Amino acid sequence: MQTFVIANQKGGVGKTTTAINLGSALTHLGKKVLLIDLDPQSNLTSGIGYEKVNKVDWSQSTESPYPSIYDVLTENKKLSSVFVPTAIKNLYLVPAHLSLAGAEIELVSQLARESILRNALREFNEPFDYVFIDCPPSLGLLTINAFVAADMIIVPIQCEYFALEGLGQLIETVRIVKNLNPTLEIKGVILTMFDSRTKLSASVACEIQEFFKGLVFETIIPRNVKLSEAPSHGKPIDIYDTLSSGARAYKDLAKEFAKRFS
Ligand SMILES: Nc1ncnc2c1ncn2[C@@H]1O[C@H](COP(=O)(O)OP(=O)(O)OP(=O)(O)O)[C@@H](O)[C@H]1O
Ligand SMILES: [Mg+2]
Repeated sequence: MQTFVIANQKGGVGKTTTAINLGSALTHLGKKVLLIDLDPQSNLTSGIGYEKVNKVDWSQSTESPYPSIYDVLTENKKLSSVFVPTAIKNLYLVPAHLSLAGAEIELVSQLARESILRNALREFNEPFDYVFIDCPPSLGLLTINAFVAADMIIVPIQCEYFALEGLGQLIETVRIVKNLNPTLEIKGVILTMFDSRTKLSASVACEIQEFFKGLVFETIIPRNVKLSEAPSHGKPIDIYDTLSSGARAYKDLAKEFAKRFS
């Protein structure tokens, strides 16, 4: 089992989109994948269609109406009691809920508060090939828990102006977390929302390739409206629109990913 945190402290760069669609594409290569939603926004949980399956009315509750990662972090529940199957075979989810926002504060007084997720993953005996942890765009105890629990970091970067903004902060976070997780490193960079009609995307892509040298995946994720529509239908792109450029890109990325992390 290899555990990846999908991180970038810049918001809206494609972290959640990558977790859902790379995760789903990997299952078609015969991999068993667990997605952990560690973001109080719960975009991963809703984007994979969890509320549809469970008929949850999201607007009605401040407390989570279903078992979630919050219970693992604050109530000592086991991951085995909160993970659920999704509509995609071999793709599983540990859901989040808005109530997770409160966990940041509740965790402050807990012992070994940075290592709760790592300990939970260590005693989790399900045979997954890959675990992806989707992070919020901020640096708090939730993100630190993800960094301590993960073996490697995958960084999606949007091919837009200010793309490199926040990466200095990310690199600094990795440096600090190394005290708790000495082998943690950035092992992959994914270029997202590439717009082939603009020169800007190409020049930003070059800049990122230069900055991260061999870490950048050859597959580039294009800007594709189908990718932004899919989560509102609660489906990964390979189910929502198999022939879209977004679906093809995440399929290619999955092949490259499985080769790099075999
Ligand atoms: N390749 C793409 N083409 C078009 N739209 C995209 C693409 N990737 C992501 N999006 C859209 O851009 C928005 C931000 O993407 P996403 O939620 O994956 O980013 P994020 O990094 O997880 O954001 P946050 O930091 O808020 O968690 C979403 O509306 C998503 O549907
Ligand atoms: Mg997100």
